[in-house]
Order: sequence, then structure tokens, then C-alpha cells
Amino acid sequence: MIFKNNNIFHLQGKQISYIMAVNECGDLLHYYYGKKLRDKNYEWVKQKWSVWNGYGPDKWTLDICPQEYPAYGYTDLRTPAYSVVNKNGGTVSRLTYKSYKILQNSVQEIEGMPALFAGDKNAQTLEIVLEDKNAGFEVILSYTVFDEYDIIARSAKITNISDTEITIDTAYSTVLDMPKRAYELIHFSGGWAKEREMYRNKVRQGVKIDISNARGGSGHNINPFVMLAEEGADETNGDVYSMTLVYSGNHSTMLECDQFGNVRLMQGINPFGFEWRLKQGESFFTPQSIMCYSDKGIGGISRELHDVIRQNLCRSKWVDMERPILINNWEATYFDFNEEKLLDIAKTAKQQGVELFVLDDGWFGDRNDEETSMGDWRVNLKKIPSGIDGLAKKINDMGLKFGLWFEPESVNPDSDIYRAHPDWIVHSAGVEPTQSRFEYLLALTRGEVCDYAINSVCNILESANIEYVKWDMNRPMTDIPRKGFNHEFTLGFYKVMDAITSRFPDILFEGCSGGGGRFDAGVLAYMPQIWTSDNSDAVKRMQIQYSTSIGYPVSSISAHVTAVPNHQNGRVTSLKSRADVAYCGVFGYELDITKMNENELDEVKKQIENDKKIRSLMINGDFYRLESPYNSNYCAWETAAKDKSEAFVMCAKILSEANCEEKRVKFYGLDPDADYIDEYTSKVYGGDELMYNGVVPEFGQYDFATQIFYLRKI
Ligand code: DGJ
Repeated sequence: MIFKNNNIFHLQGKQISYIMAVNECGDLLHYYYGKKLRDKNYEWVKQKWSVWNGYGPDKWTLDICPQEYPAYGYTDLRTPAYSVVNKNGGTVSRLTYKSYKILQNSVQEIEGMPALFAGDKNAQTLEIVLEDKNAGFEVILSYTVFDEYDIIARSAKITNISDTEITIDTAYSTVLDMPKRAYELIHFSGGWAKEREMYRNKVRQGVKIDISNARGGSGHNINPFVMLAEEGADETNGDVYSMTLVYSGNHSTMLECDQFGNVRLMQGINPFGFEWRLKQGESFFTPQSIMCYSDKGIGGISRELHDVIRQNLCRSKWVDMERPILINNWEATYFDFNEEKLLDIAKTAKQQGVELFVLDDGWFGDRNDEETSMGDWRVNLKKIPSGIDGLAKKINDMGLKFGLWFEPESVNPDSDIYRAHPDWIVHSAGVEPTQSRFEYLLALTRGEVCDYAINSVCNILESANIEYVKWDMNRPMTDIPRKGFNHEFTLGFYKVMDAITSRFPDILFEGCSGGGGRFDAGVLAYMPQIWTSDNSDAVKRMQIQYSTSIGYPVSSISAHVTAVPNHQNGRVTSLKSRADVAYCGVFGYELDITKMNENELDEVKKQIENDKKIRSLMINGDFYRLESPYNSNYCAWETAAKDKSEAFVMCAKILSEANCEEKRVKFYGLDPDADYIDEYTSKVYGGDELMYNGVVPEFGQYDFATQIFYLRKI
């Protein structure tokens, strides 16, 4: 619901309120964000903001006013939400309120970028028009609320209404000015094979925290999802505010805690390396940022975001469907395979119950290593004499679906496409371009280059029965020719994704970027699942999946059982524990299954049968994190059906210990008045018993021991 009473705007979601007001000077000020308030005619409180007597009828300064889209250098001296260079070369700006519009049954549309859609939900959008008459531009701030959710989706549109060109230097998507309180900032940082590790930092007066990424894609190093939490908030208690940027390029989250302890949190495109010129009448759209609030801790945020992303962001029909259990040949063969080997893997996998065979890198050109042929999207007949169509048919004849790997955004210098079009790569005139993994990036800023990427992928997809695509991207962006280029590239990426995914709506697409280097809400709009990390060691993967699940649904977390010793860190874990971790995601295998012995194959068969029973629950249920593997020897998580009819729980003990404490794990989301049977042990528990007293998992006496429970209401 959106209310407008005099100069006050009140947005209401399921259990939240967000209130702002226009003051006598025309400034759009922030008033409240949190638990739902009744709508009434709030008397705009004239706070004693008069530490500086140079501004406004009451002599206040914007420096201490909470605002919706602040500028720098008028009277606010904190970090601004935007900066626009006017015709005189200055950036001093003052936006004042001009008008508003409430759009019923409507979400915000953001040109060239993905955003939430309404679907069957009741959504309303408020557009507030602010104007800087002197500098000659207008800003429309959009706020979309849903009756069923506790989120507010925000974006800004800047339009040049002057008679000359203007340049945008900075344009954040969202700003949250919050009153003084003991807060912690939680963000997700890491690198290749250690993506999205969770960090919590106390926010203290005077700090300025810039959580930003300028590596090209959204990045292994910093994820565009953050939380501002009341100090001490945990999985079930405390006020938590989050921001998710629906964007796959360079991004920034900026926090500033001012002289009074007030906190400004902003999220959007990274201003570093950014610039956007607007001719007369032209507009610029920021990406969408989704704000979420929960008074039920971090878990409350997660469950809300999981539903929002699944139901109102992912466009794929696969989003709430059971995903086929796959086997991928990458860690089984790397580049060293032929058709016979692939068919052997597929046949053995099929015998255990696998449903989809995925052919990874190395099937095209002369690609026998990383150094050649990227961009030459024609099958290597020496390796695959039947061609992709023939191989797909043979795989289909075994009763398996067939999937294929692509990396459409890159080329090797040793490729026909690069030799034909050396100017198509991202490069800066006169500078020798940098290779990374022997690759250059294609400049998706150019129409003909996007067309090449679209056509080469579509031609292959049309040539064979391909039912799954793994879309990889393996290098950062260097040699950037001009400011704003990264945003142009990101728009090109979305154009390519949009063209291909809408032409092949039945194909299941999986995102990937050297593991989980582009795990963001922008990608999820097009592809319902993403390869979470190249690190599939069960212990580290458990930690990565744990923290990834805070911002992203389990249905998006692609998780494979791989061989031991693990190829990334050399650790040996049991086959059981590797599967127990991978169940919490989109389950599959990535190992040479032909080398497994009879006992192992039997175990794989049982794991697959198990995943087939629980996968629908894992995709559509409510996720609870029960024990954190951060700074602890344990981890536990649970997916409970929304109707409380069933639940799956995984508990893990990382290192074996003698004479150790008893570890009790309490479950959530069950019916306290019902009994549940654990399908694995046939033990019967009360829902109340499981939730209020919990269970003590029976871990074995070895490192990385796991226990799973599949509880069904009886
Ligand atoms: C990086 C991915 O993360 C891997 O899974 C694999 O597809 C390789 N690229 C192939 O080059």
C-alpha cells in the first residue's frame, strides 16, 4: 500500500513501513523504516536541526537530516548519492520536490536491466520527481512495494532537462539514512574457491566503509548483497536491513557513520571508473536495489529474499521445477576426452539414476587446453566425430538429457574469430591488451559483437537437442577504454542474455564465472541457478553454501559431488558427507564415475534416489540456518515445507574431537502438534520436541562427519 497524506509518503509492505516527507524547503527527507506502523496523518516533526544557521526557515542544515537522495556540497557534507557535472563544470546541486505519481498494479521498469516483475502479486510503485532547476536535471526516485513482501525495490532515473550536455559521475540506486544505533555491517567477500565468506564489522562513528568491486563482473571478491544489523542480531532475533543489487557489473555499497552516529548506507553502480553523459532530453537509469527489513534476524531476511528472487525476479520456467540431477565431465576429464569416454561416463551415470549429462569446456575448435579456440563455436570432430547433434542423440538414446558449456563473452588470441576481428575485444587504443587465462573479453558494448555472441550460441542450440546450458565467464575486465564502459558492457551482457533466454525458454540455464564469480541477482533474473564455486571440497563448500544462502535461494545454488582428494584443496571427505552438503542446492556429480567401485556406485544410486525425494522441497521450502560454520566446529541447516508437512536437515561436525561437548540442534518451521518420522532412521519425533528440545546428532568419530534427517509428518 502507498499512502500520501499532505507532505508525507507512507509505503507499507506485509509487515513493514517506510515513511518520507517533503519539508517546507522542498527537500525529500527520510522519516522511518522498520516494523509496520498504522497509517495516520503523521505530524512532520520539526526536529531541532539547527547547528548551523545558514539554511531553511528553521535554520537547519541538511548535514544532519536523513534524506532520500542527498547531494554533496549544498549543506550536506557527507558522501552523496549522486554527482552531476553541470554546464559550468560544477557539481553543486539541490534537488527539490516537484511532483509524484502512484502507479497501481505496477512495478518499476528499468531500461536495459532486469528488475522485479509483479507476476500474480499485488505491487504498487511510487514515483517521486525531484528537480534541480539550476543544474538542469530531474531525478525520478521509484519505490515498488508488494502487499505480500517486506521489501522495497528502488531505482533512480536521471533526465537532462537543460539545453546542454551534462555528465553523471555518481548515481547510487538506493540510499538509507538511519538514526544512531549500535549497528553491524555484514558483507560477503572472498576470492576464487572461497566465494562469499561472511564478514561482520561493528559500525563506529566516523567510519566510512566502501565495499566495492571494479573487476568487471559482480566478482568473486565482493558480492552486491549487504546487511545492516542491530548489534548482536542473530538468525532469529534482531532488526536487520539488507540491500541486494540487481546488477552484474562493478558495484559499490558505501556506508558512512556521521558525527552524530547516524548511518548512511547506499548501494549502486561503483562510481569509480564511472561516467555517463546525457544529451538534452536523455535519461539514465540506475539498476534496481532491493531493500528488505526483518525484525526476526538474518533468517527472516533470507526467507523473504528467497521467495522474492524465486517468485518475482527469476524469469525461467525452471525456477520452481525439480532440476535434473546432472553429471558434468569437467573434473572427470578436463580437456582430455573423446566421444567414447563421454559416453562411458554418461552410461555409468545413467545406470545410477543421473538424468542429465553436461559436456563442459573443450568441445570446440582445437581446444585441448586453455590457450586456444575460445570464440570458435564449432564442434571439434576429432574429439566428437558424431558432432554435437550426434552426441546429443546418443545421450538422449540412453535416456539422458544433454547439456553444453559455453563461454560466449571471451576469445583466445589464438582463434579464428580474433584473427578476423581483432578490434572486437575490450582494449584501450595504443595499449597492448592484457590476457587472463589466455583470453580477451569481447566488447559487448558493440551491437555486432553482441550479435556474434547471440548467433553463435543460438546456432548451436538450434542444431541439437540441448536442454541445459552452462554459461561461463572466466576473466576480469582490464584495458577499459573509457569511463562508463563497464556499465555499457553490463547492458550488452543483459541484451545477449535476454535474446538467448527468451528464444529458448525451455532450456535450463546455469550461470558460472570461474566458479561463483558472478553470483548476483542480475544473473538470476535470466538463469535460475549458478555454479556456486569451483571449490567442491565438502567442508569449504558447506561454508560457501551457508553464507551464499543468506542472500540467495537454495534453488540457485548449484552443488556437485566431486572426487577426493579434492582437486582444489586436496582434502579427503567421505562420499556421504559430500552428498549431504550438495543436497542443499541443485544436486549433481562432477567426477569420473567410471572409476568408482561397486560399493561407491551403490552409494551414488542411493544418493540420487534420496535427492529425487527431497529436491522439490529443497527448491520451494523455507530455509533455516541452525548452526554456523563460522568460528565453530559445527554447521546445520534445514529446509522445511511451507505447509510444515516435511523437512530436510543436515548437521555436520567439522573436526573429530575426543571428550567433546554434546551438540544439540533445534529445528524450526515444524508443526508442534504433529509427529514426524525420520525416513533414514524410522525414529519418530514430536514437532514440539524437535523445535524446543532439539536432537543431538550422532556424528561418527572421524573428521567431517554429517548426519541428515528427512522428516515427514505422520
Ligand atoms: C570455470 C568453471 O568454474 C569450471 O566449472 C569449468 O567450467 C571451467 N571454467 C572450464 O573452463
